[in-house]
Amino acid sequence: MSETILVTGGAGFIGSNFVPYFCAKYPGYRVINLDKLTYAGNLDNLKECADMPNYRFVQGDICDEALVKELFEANDIRGVIHFAAESHVDNSITGPKAFIETNIGGTFNLLENARRHWMSAPNKVKPGFENCRFHHISTDEVYGTLGETGLFREDTPYAPNSPYSASKASSDFIVRAYHHTYGMNVTTSNCSNNYGPKQHGEKLIPTIIRKCVAEEPIPIYGQGTNVRDWLYVLDHCKAIDLIFHQGKSGETYNVGGFNERNNLQLVHKICALLDERRPRKSGKYADLITFVADRPGHDLRYAIDSTKLTRELGWKADENFDSGIVKTVDWYLQNRY
Ligand SMILES: NC(=O)c1ccc[n+]([C@@H]2O[C@H](COP(=O)([O-])OP(=O)(O)OC[C@H]3O[C@@H](n4cnc5c(N)ncnc54)[C@H](O)[C@@H]3O)[C@@H](O)[C@H]2O)c1
Repeated sequence: MSETILVTGGAGFIGSNFVPYFCAKYPGYRVINLDKLTYAGNLDNLKECADMPNYRFVQGDICDEALVKELFEANDIRGVIHFAAESHVDNSITGPKAFIETNIGGTFNLLENARRHWMSAPNKVKPGFENCRFHHISTDEVYGTLGETGLFREDTPYAPNSPYSASKASSDFIVRAYHHTYGMNVTTSNCSNNYGPKQHGEKLIPTIIRKCVAEEPIPIYGQGTNVRDWLYVLDHCKAIDLIFHQGKSGETYNVGGFNERNNLQLVHKICALLDERRPRKSGKYADLITFVADRPGHDLRYAIDSTKLTRELGWKADENFDSGIVKTVDWYLQNRY
């Protein structure tokens, strides 16, 4: 009998890279993609799944108690891979409420329905449900900010600084509590910045490419010195697959590619690739770089130590930044801008 896995937020950036990969790799799973289709969700990103017999889309809100209960019961959900979230830090500064509702309330609603469906009492899994797992996808932003040195490890204390990262940290703690209190089979991954195809145009890399192509000023916060650890999205998807299937219950795993770049390095790299691929009539794309007022509370540096994931589960990123960014720029030029 094939098992049904509930994927949430599969129409977003990472989810829409994950779902086609996962459905193709595991034809034995039936995958239900529950997504509200907020401004960030885009079904065009899931065209590859149209002919996949093991894929089904349900439009709905992870906060909707009746809907999530019905989905668990009617489909006998045996696993959850939870991407759905409000994910843009800038939006969390102007409108934090949706972040609290979806990222905290929605995660709680999913966990609670999974608990009721899979468990009969604290530390008592219903017979036959022993392998049911809830995998929660989180971010390195829960750890706060780093100085010029050091890396986030799984035991780094949480110190979230934005409403977004605070809401993700809260959801991580609820997931943790369901393991420690109820004995639920959960895993969590905390990943660094992803890049690659299908990302919403509001995020930094698509914005740089779009502005270049439109010959408009490229806005860079502050002096462009903020450092992020960039991971190609498919490498994140592969890590999630590995942790969902082989991770240890109750554990968290950091995911990152040891590819630190500051925003200036990033924008110059993309501009140089565009200079080769679609040269301007005069001048270079880097001439369009414009510094704008910094984001309030802007974390200086994130960098992930993913040694645990490599040592315990054998994960390794297939792309480095130089190979992944070429694929990414080419995808946006061919598909978006
Ligand atoms: N993008 C990154 O660099 C990154 C890095 C680390 C972790 N993460 C985490 O990975 C997950 C996915 O991130 P993303 O970049 O793909 O986000 P995204 O904003 O591109 O997509 C989010 C998806 O969730 C859906 N959604 C939002 N609220 C919902 C709700 N209430 N009910 C159902 N669906 C809802 C949206 O419609 C959208 O399809 C998030 O949990 C995020 O915190 C992202």
